[in-house]
Amino acid sequence: APCFPYGLIDPIEKLGALAEKKKLWLHVDACVGGYIAPFVRMNGGDVPPFDFEVPGVLSMSADLHKYGYCAKGASTVLFRSEELRSHMIFDCADWPGGRMVTPTLAGTRPGGAIAAAWAVMNFLGEEGYRAKHRQVTNAREAVEAGVARLGFRVLGRPQLGIVSFTHDEVDPFAVWGKLFERGWFTSLTTEPKGLHLMLSPFHESVTGTYLSDLEWALGEVKAGNEGKKREARYS
Ligand SMILES: Cc1ncc(COP(=O)(O)O)c(C=O)c1O
Repeated sequence: APCFPYGLIDPIEKLGALAEKKKLWLHVDACVGGYIAPFVRMNGGDVPPFDFEVPGVLSMSADLHKYGYCAKGASTVLFRSEELRSHMIFDCADWPGGRMVTPTLAGTRPGGAIAAAWAVMNFLGEEGYRAKHRQVTNAREAVEAGVARLGFRVLGRPQLGIVSFTHDEVDPFAVWGKLFERGWFTSLTTEPKGLHLMLSPFHESVTGTYLSDLEWALGEVKAGNEGKKREARYS
């Protein structure tokens, strides 16, 4: 919720019902969406149920270092109940050092990243996240409308900060290459071949520039001036 390539949220309600029926543990990977989706919904966005409001969801991951705007090194995994969380605790007495209990499999960890994340979250608060995510939504909506005007096809109906789009007549990778020449280091999808953007609040102020460079890149590719092509490879 959502997936990284297209920014689309899976049908969690249906998966939840299936998990309940089959007595399975449903974990929602909300790594990239967990700290944006609730605030987009508060801002009036159309976000389908994806979290513990779906009865079958037993755990979720949500990354603080993505749309939580915190530094890397601290993140969150949430459980529906204390009983379920107890499975994450490492608790071992079968050695000569006495009982060893840690909250996760990882042992000693620095608290600095956790403290920094706590500070960022308290600094931003609900209002701060809503404001930042409004900017992300504005950027996404401007990109969606702009690329559609240029003849690209947005993949699915993204609701958060990721948008991917393809073109039925030109090679999106060639367009990516032209954009790179102008300093746009963005991403790609491979199925289908498409351009991929993960938007942050700052991008609201540069969507106009991006779209005019995209129009230029498209024109160049249509005219046969392809330039550098990107390999379809992720690392
Ligand atoms: C849906 C999803 N899950 C997991 C991850 C992995 O995140 P990380 O590499 O920060 O652990 C990502 C990264 O973007 C993601 O989008």
